Amino acid sequence: MQTELSTQLGVEHAVFGFTPFPAVAAAISRAGGFGVLGAVRYTAPDDLRRDLDWIEAHVDGKPYGLDVVMPAKKVEGVSEADVEAMIPEGHRAFVRDTLAKYGVPGLAEGEAAGWRITGWMEQVARGQLDVAFDYPIRLLANALGSPPADVVARAHDRDVLVAALAGSARHARKHKDAGIDVVVAQGYEAGGHTGEIASMVLTPEVVEAVDPLPVLAAGGIGSGRQAAAALALGAQGVWLGSVWLTTSEADLHSPALTRKLLAAGSGDTVRSRALTGKPARQLRTEWTDAWDDPHGPGALPMPLQGLLVAEAVSRIQKHEIDPLLGTPVGQIVGRMNDVRSVRAVFDDLTRGFEEAVDRVNRIAGRSGQ
Ligand SMILES: Cc1cc2nc3c(=O)[nH]c(=O)nc-3n(C[C@H](O)[C@H](O)[C@H](O)COP(=O)(O)O)c2cc1C
Repeated sequence: MQTELSTQLGVEHAVFGFTPFPAVAAAISRAGGFGVLGAVRYTAPDDLRRDLDWIEAHVDGKPYGLDVVMPAKKVEGVSEADVEAMIPEGHRAFVRDTLAKYGVPGLAEGEAAGWRITGWMEQVARGQLDVAFDYPIRLLANALGSPPADVVARAHDRDVLVAALAGSARHARKHKDAGIDVVVAQGYEAGGHTGEIASMVLTPEVVEAVDPLPVLAAGGIGSGRQAAAALALGAQGVWLGSVWLTTSEADLHSPALTRKLLAAGSGDTVRSRALTGKPARQLRTEWTDAWDDPHGPGALPMPLQGLLVAEAVSRIQKHEIDPLLGTPVGQIVGRMNDVRSVRAVFDDLTRGFEEAVDRVNRIAGRSGQ
């Protein structure tokens, strides 16, 4: 599965894999794709350095990238304490009552409450970049907006390609104007923050809007057939996030969550503001239902919601409270039915891609050409 972009990056297949797990990122690159490590959870630069060192030692010299979150809407100049103070007491009470209703135990003293607001702040992302530019990353991706001009320039000085996620042609055009090199067109089906336009409609719209920039199709891709469809729609590759969550290299820290993912069907996700305050696709749970209930208080805007629920989400995960336990994941979860190695998922995808292309050629009467 080769395209101009995969050739430019020196990878065998134009399969890009977003993952929060270093072991998965390295395995994707080793398998012949392009692993991209999600950096949002690294609020301490030394932790990121440790994991990039690990990737370097395990990636067999193959190229890889990093994904940061620099929201276009900044929370600059506001401390975590300022944001805390903006959270209405009624919302805090709702969190307390919901946790009490399900008997969710607390965290042990000194136990960190998972991710905090700081991972979404530009100064934290800049700290991540200071670390990342010490490593031979080949691509820097940004979620939730175009990266600032100086970041794009810094990346280009180091021959690092810059990518940004877009959920609409309008956003994609903004990225192009900001001087980025690759647009990731992320459809409604995708896990994580998504827009409202399905991949089938979005991919060709974005391809046409940013031509001649290369576009990667994201959202709802988990098989070679879907990868072939994405290339038929004009994409230069595919960008997958959800499918890696149930690989043997992923480190979800929760057997119960893995079981839920394996059992879930493609109708078991919801696009909800419950996690961060912005619509993000995730497993539908009684927790998301509580926030989406029109009779409840409703989610707060980003970054307030993330701060409000950070500790609660950590408690739910730590104690594996089944009805509330969830994670960002896309509709492709319906195909994630067993735990397999990254290599097995990858090989299935590339083999399935060849079969799908052969099939289309047969249908079009082009066999042997
Ligand atoms: C658990 C999870 C966390 C994600 N976090 C981020 C993130 O921090 N930054 C980002 O650019 N995209 C993030 N995404 C979106 C992925 O980069 C990717 O675009 C998306 O998963 C593609 O759709 P798919 O889930 O159907 O494969 C996340 C996706 C998942 C499933």
